Amino acid sequence: MNQLAMHGGTPVRTAPFPSAMDPEGRTLGTEEAAALGEVISSGRLGASGGTQVPALESEFAEYYGVAHAVACTSGTAALHLAVGALDPAPGDEIITAPITDFGTVIPILAHNAVPVFADVDPGTGILDPASVDALVTDRTRAIIAVHLTGAAAPIAELAEIARRHDVALIEDCAQAYLTELADGKPAGTGGHVGCFSLQQYKHITCGDGGLVITSDAGLAARMRLFADKGWPRHTGERTHLSLGMNYRMTELQAAVARVQLGKLADVVAGRRTAAKRLAAALAGLPGVRPPDDLDRHAVWLFPIVLDPALAGGTNTEWAKALEAEGIPVSAGYLSRPVYRYPVLAERNLYGGSGFPLTSPPASEERHYPEGLCPNAEELIGRTLLVVHWNEAYTESDVDDIATAFRKVHAALTSTDEKPARV
Ligand SMILES: Cc1ncc(COP(=O)(O)O)c(C=O)c1O
Repeated sequence: MNQLAMHGGTPVRTAPFPSAMDPEGRTLGTEEAAALGEVISSGRLGASGGTQVPALESEFAEYYGVAHAVACTSGTAALHLAVGALDPAPGDEIITAPITDFGTVIPILAHNAVPVFADVDPGTGILDPASVDALVTDRTRAIIAVHLTGAAAPIAELAEIARRHDVALIEDCAQAYLTELADGKPAGTGGHVGCFSLQQYKHITCGDGGLVITSDAGLAARMRLFADKGWPRHTGERTHLSLGMNYRMTELQAAVARVQLGKLADVVAGRRTAAKRLAAALAGLPGVRPPDDLDRHAVWLFPIVLDPALAGGTNTEWAKALEAEGIPVSAGYLSRPVYRYPVLAERNLYGGSGFPLTSPPASEERHYPEGLCPNAEELIGRTLLVVHWNEAYTESDVDDIATAFRKVHAALTSTDEKPARV
């Protein structure tokens, strides 16, 4: 029992855990099917002239207590709505986080702006306000903060920086439905725009989809135009005022998303309850630090920061051992910071031109070398371990995870294990 499964021992767990790719790990059911059936019977599947998309928009805005919501096709599109509404000039800069889905960065590049990566807090992987502040220039147009894994980014501090420099603050809430900010308000309402994803793996889903929220009527109007080819449909005139995409959500997606929205609070509550059980079980395990803000966390993933010296190994060594025990984990969340992906590190952009990282239009030639964000690189390479999470985890599922953590800890820190690793 004590021998690690990766060394031939018996795994703690052989049955799969509920996951977002299985019916057991999703809250999709007969209500969503009925809502879809109604849309199909109506004969109207597209957003133009439909009822489901506007209903979703007003329900989501009301849910978040804001004046405006705009639906679109993905979380990436939602972020593009926000960037598009700001209309940066080529070479303008947008500061964001190096640990995130690439969907945070794509809209910046698609709009010919330059992504600038600030470093993160080594204890959380979330943007460090001081690092952001130091990178603001006269070309900066926005900051995109990422509520990574569902933990709250320091929005009050970032909003103060944004206010001082007169730039926009966009919150990437793709992983952070109902995350609570330090002031008790929901993530997505502390900056100028909050962006959400309805992709398959998210807390609620319609397969793919996105939503933005804002209290700013001007931004809302520009985002709506951007999602619909710059076409001011409410005027009745067929004309195009500004650059836009076709990012229109369909009635089918909206019908499913509306039902899913009604389940969101329970989804987040279930994730928090299970996460608190694991955090309690791991308390006191040397070198293994679970999150300490679980009442405010959306727990899209359960993040752990290791101290490799006390935990007996790095995140990669831990992940290998835990996976062999049947526990769904990933070392680092990403394999590398987003700025080291070939698209940026090798400038695979716009026919190999490197545009807009070239000067001009950028104020200086922009490169993203290794070592750019040391805290992010340390988290990804050595200390961050994420446990995949789901609202359907039972107490016994969580207890299996805790048992596996204790087993791996005991083995990796035992003196028997040490010589083999030297
Ligand atoms: C933090 C973050 N931002 C943006 C996105 C992009 O969302 P989508 O996949 O819906 O385009 C995701 C989705 O994985 C995400 O996790």
